[in-house]
Amino acid sequence: MNVRANQSQPPSETRPTVATAPGKAILFGEHAVVYGRPAIAVPVTDVQARATITTGERGTGVRLVAADLPAPDGRPGGRRYRLRDAPADDPLRAIVELALAAFAPGGPTGAGVGGLDSEPDLQVTVTSTIPIARGLGSGAAVATAVARAIARYFGQLPRSDEISRLVYEVEKLHHGTPSGIDNTVIAYEQPVYFVRGEGMKRLSVGAPLSLVIADTGVVSSTREVVGDLRHRWQAQPERYEGLFDEIGAIARLARSAIERGDPRAVGRLMDENHELLMTIGVSSPELDRLVKVARAGGALGAKMSGAGWGGNMLALVESHRAQIVADALCQAGAASTIFSQIS
Ligand code: MEV
Repeated sequence: MNVRANQSQPPSETRPTVATAPGKAILFGEHAVVYGRPAIAVPVTDVQARATITTGERGTGVRLVAADLPAPDGRPGGRRYRLRDAPADDPLRAIVELALAAFAPGGPTGAGVGGLDSEPDLQVTVTSTIPIARGLGSGAAVATAVARAIARYFGQLPRSDEISRLVYEVEKLHHGTPSGIDNTVIAYEQPVYFVRGEGMKRLSVGAPLSLVIADTGVVSSTREVVGDLRHRWQAQPERYEGLFDEIGAIARLARSAIERGDPRAVGRLMDENHELLMTIGVSSPELDRLVKVARAGGALGAKMSGAGWGGNMLALVESHRAQIVADALCQAGAASTIFSQIS
């Protein structure tokens, strides 16, 4: 509960309030992190979600505009709806309610929307350059941007852990058992070494890491991939616990390789991590193909990233080879590539 909420003032003017949040990439340890092993993730600032809050006309309540999503009738111009008309598990509705409860004046004591006594008149507009359902954290980034924008609108400057906690609640709607790594790396906007339940540990990067991030173009649902793996883990717990241990050991080694600035070692560990992700059944033929192409094109290492079965893969490159590797990935069918420098 945010103790400052009751002290906050409604804005005195109607200038739009804007906040952004980056995408993310998991360098090591996805999936095993759900089972308590360490993982490493970095913010990808080259793609961003943005939320804009404007004061609406009196009595209109909260209106949501997801400007990049087509309207239900397929026409461009965005999906527009009233907060109170959305289902309770709509992720935008959820984060707006959570953020209003935490940051709007009046406190979270009433019975109205967001636990407020009365619904404020606001328009919340969301745009994003982060591809949806491709392992780059678009859901967590949108929720982070909205929570930050609402906080700012009400004159609050919340800490990263407060934002992360709210976004984690929304992550639970995306898939039932999130580790918390996505909301953490996105809310803190820093490289993180993450262990579930242990809070944020900043990872220092000894030498910059140049990444080419390539999109298979295949949409995949984190909920489905995580749920499918859970069934296999339940059927053969010893086998999967052993594989998760191996992934966790790689993440630990990667942490020291990143800290001491040894990209060649980081690349080798990415290759090993990818083999294990194939073994636990979360990769896909498209991902495996792009991983091979990146290595053949001179990447220091390559792996899928995020939930898998589609989405994005990462290639670690020497910066002068980034364009060559990106071109090879596009020729091999990547839908798009992003360059990102992590430091
Ligand atoms: C999704 O970005 C990462 C997974 O490890 C799920 C999670 O950590 O919640 C697949």
